[in-house]
Amino acid sequence: MILSIESSCDDSSIAITDIKTKKLVYHKKISQELQHSVYGGVVPELAARLHVEALPKILEECKEYFKDLKAIAVTNAPGLSVTLMEGVIMAKALGLSLGLPIIAVNHLKGHIYSLFIEKEVILPCTILLVSGGHTQIIEASALNEMKIVATTIDDSFGESFDKVSKMLNLGYPGGPAVQEYALNGDENKYELPIPLRQSPKIEFSYSGLKNAVRLLIEKCEPLDEQKIADICACFQKTAVAHIMQKTKKLFKNKAPENFAIVGGASANIHLRTQIEDLCKIHKTNLYLSQLKYCSDNAAMIGRVAIEQYNNNEFISHEDIDIQARVKVM
Ligand code: KG4
Ligand code: ZN
Repeated sequence: MILSIESSCDDSSIAITDIKTKKLVYHKKISQELQHSVYGGVVPELAARLHVEALPKILEECKEYFKDLKAIAVTNAPGLSVTLMEGVIMAKALGLSLGLPIIAVNHLKGHIYSLFIEKEVILPCTILLVSGGHTQIIEASALNEMKIVATTIDDSFGESFDKVSKMLNLGYPGGPAVQEYALNGDENKYELPIPLRQSPKIEFSYSGLKNAVRLLIEKCEPLDEQKIADICACFQKTAVAHIMQKTKKLFKNKAPENFAIVGGASANIHLRTQIEDLCKIHKTNLYLSQLKYCSDNAAMIGRVAIEQYNNNEFISHEDIDIQARVKVM
C-alpha cells in the first residue's frame, strides 16, 4: 500500500491505496474553505498553519495501515510553497521513521489521474485541466509523456470565478457560489466580451473578462439579488464560451479519440454539458472524474504514485524539494 499526502493549497488530505488492486483503502480530506472565506481567497500562511493541525489528525486514523506501507507519496509541485512544504516535511518524517522510500508527485498529474481512481489508466487522452491555478489543454500519451498544447496567458478559469465571487461578496471558493447564483439569472441580460475571440491562437485569458465584470458591477450598483444573479449568469456564460471557442478550434484541427475534463472547476455543470455536446458531435469518448475527486485530494496523488512505484520513480529523503512554480510535467 502507498500512503499519499496532498497539501498544495487549502485542502489537507491523506489517502492509502492498494498497489495491486488500485483500490482506495482510506481517504480523508479536511477543507479550509470556511477559514479562508472571510478573506475572499486563500491566505498562504493561514493555510500552512491549518495543514499543521489537520494532517497529523488525519494521519492518526491511518496508523493501522502503517505495517502494510511500501512507500510514502507527496505532492511537491506546483502549488503554494509554504503549504507544499508541510506535506513534504510530513512525508520525509514518515519515510525516515518507517524506513520507506518517497515518491514525489506533480499535482497536475494528480488531477489527470483523478480520472483513473480505482480504474485502469486510459491513455492517450487529451485533457482540459481547469482549476484555481491552471487552465490548460494537455495531450497525455503516458505518465511521463505529457505535452501542454494550450494554456492561459494570465489568470485561470477557476480563479476568475473566485474573483467575481469576491467582487460580489459571495465568499470563497467562488465557483460553486457563482454557479448557484447563475441558476436564477438571465445570461443574456448584459453583454460581456469573450476573451481572445479574434485570435487564431489556442490559448486562454481571463484578466480582461474579470475587469469587464468589475466595470459591469460598478455600472449596476446598487446591487440587489436579481442583479447579482444576472451578473453571475452572464459571466459564467462568457467564461465557458471562451473555453468552448478554443476547444472547438482544437477539435476542428483534429478531434481526439479520448477527451477528459479534470480539476476543481471541472465541476462546473455549464462547462460539462457543453463539452459533452462537443464530444458527441465528434464521436470522441469523454471521461470525467467523479465530482468528489475533481477538487484537490490525496486519492488522485495516490493513483499517480502507483504508476511511479511500478516505474521505480523514487526520490531520496535528501533530494526531495518543493517546486512551487514548475511548468513542465
Ligand atoms: O483543483 P482545485 O480544487 O484547486 C486547485 O488546484 O486550484 O480547484 C479549485 C478551483 C477554485 O478556483 C474554485 O472556485 C473552482 O475550482 N471551482 C469552480 C466550480 N467548483 C470549483 N469553478 C467554476 N464552477 C464550479 N462549479
Ligand atoms: Zn488542484
